[in-house]
Amino acid sequence: MPSVLNIFFTLLSISHVTYGTKVRQLWEFSNTSQWVENIGIRPSGHLLLNTFDQGKMYTIDPSTENPVPSVAIQLPGVTALTGITEIEPDIFAISGGNPNATSGAFLYGSGKIFVVDFRGRVPHINNQPLIKRAVEIPDSKLLNGIASLPLNPYIVLSVDSKLGCIYRTDTLSGHVDVIYKSDKLSPTPGTATPVGANGLKVRGGYLYLTNSEQYFLARLKVSETGNVLGPLEIIKHLPTNPTQHPDDFWIAQDGTFYVAAFTTAVLKITAGGQVSTVVDESGTVTSGGSNGKGGQVIEIDLVSK
Ligand SMILES: *[C@@H]1O[C@H](CO)[C@@H](O)[C@H](O)[C@H]1NC(C)=O
Ligand SMILES: *[C@@H]1O[C@H](CO)[C@@H](O)[C@H](O)[C@H]1NC(C)=O
Repeated sequence: MPSVLNIFFTLLSISHVTYGTKVRQLWEFSNTSQWVENIGIRPSGHLLLNTFDQGKMYTIDPSTENPVPSVAIQLPGVTALTGITEIEPDIFAISGGNPNATSGAFLYGSGKIFVVDFRGRVPHINNQPLIKRAVEIPDSKLLNGIASLPLNPYIVLSVDSKLGCIYRTDTLSGHVDVIYKSDKLSPTPGTATPVGANGLKVRGGYLYLTNSEQYFLARLKVSETGNVLGPLEIIKHLPTNPTQHPDDFWIAQDGTFYVAAFTTAVLKITAGGQVSTVVDESGTVTSGGSNGKGGQVIEIDLVSK
C-alpha cells in the first residue's frame, strides 16, 4: 500500500552506515512515523525539524556531541508539517496539513501556514513558542517548500506539489493569492510519487524551485512583492533516476545549489549547471518511513577534508 511516507520527500535521509569523515548522523528517530520533512535554523544555530509526527516540530542542537531532540511545539489541527522559513529573527512561517494516507494530498480545509514566534513564550504550555497566526489555505493540496521574500519578509511563497501552483501569503493581513500555476510545477499524472514542485528558495530577484517528479531545477523572476516577471527558466534537467528525485535544497553564497535527492543522495549543482554528487548512500537502507527507519538528521561538512 502506498503510504504517505513514501510520497513525501524528506530533506535529508541518509542511512547511518560507514561514512567518510565529513558526514555525521546527528539523530535518528525510532518511529517510522517520525518523518523529517524540513529543517529550519534558529539564530542560535539550533535546528527546527518539521515532522509528520502528529504536527510536532522538534528542536535539536547540532553543536553538541550527541544531540537529542525535544518537542519545540505541536501545531494544532495538522498532522504533517512541511515547509519552514524565517520571517523575522526567530519568527518562522511553517506550512502543514492533514494528509490523506492514500493519496498524500491534504484533506480539504486542512492546509495552513502558521507564524510561530520563539521570542514570545507561553508559560502555561511548557513555555512553548507563541503561535501568532494560522492562515488557512483550504484549497491547497500539498503545501511544500516555503520561502519568505527578502525585502518583504512577512510575505511568504509556498509551492503546492499537487496543484502545481505557488501561493503568496501575507502573514500580517492573512491575505492569500496564487501568483503562478503551470504543468511544469505539477507531478506527471499517473506516476508513483505524485509530487511536483517541492523545494523553494528566493535569492537575488529569483524564486528557485525543484520539481521532484519532473527532475529539474528551475527559476522564476519575481518582484520584491512576489509578482512573477518572466517565464519559468529551467536551470538543469537531472537524469531520471528513481532514487534521486530533486527535493529541498540550499543555495550557498557563491550561487552553488546543494540539493537533497530523494532517497539517497545530496547533489551539488553549480550556478552554471554542472552536477556532481556530494554523498550517495544508494544500496543502503534510507529515506525514513518507507524503509522501516525513522527520520534522520545528517550533517555534511563541505569544508573540512
Ligand atoms: C509510532 O507512531 C505511531 C503514530 O504516532 C503510533 O501509533 C505508534 O504507536 C508508534 N509506535 C511506537 C513503537 O512507538
Ligand atoms: C483519500 O484518497 C483516496 C484516493 O485518492 C480517495 O479515494 C479518498 O476518498 C480520500 N479520502 C478522503 C477522506 O478525502
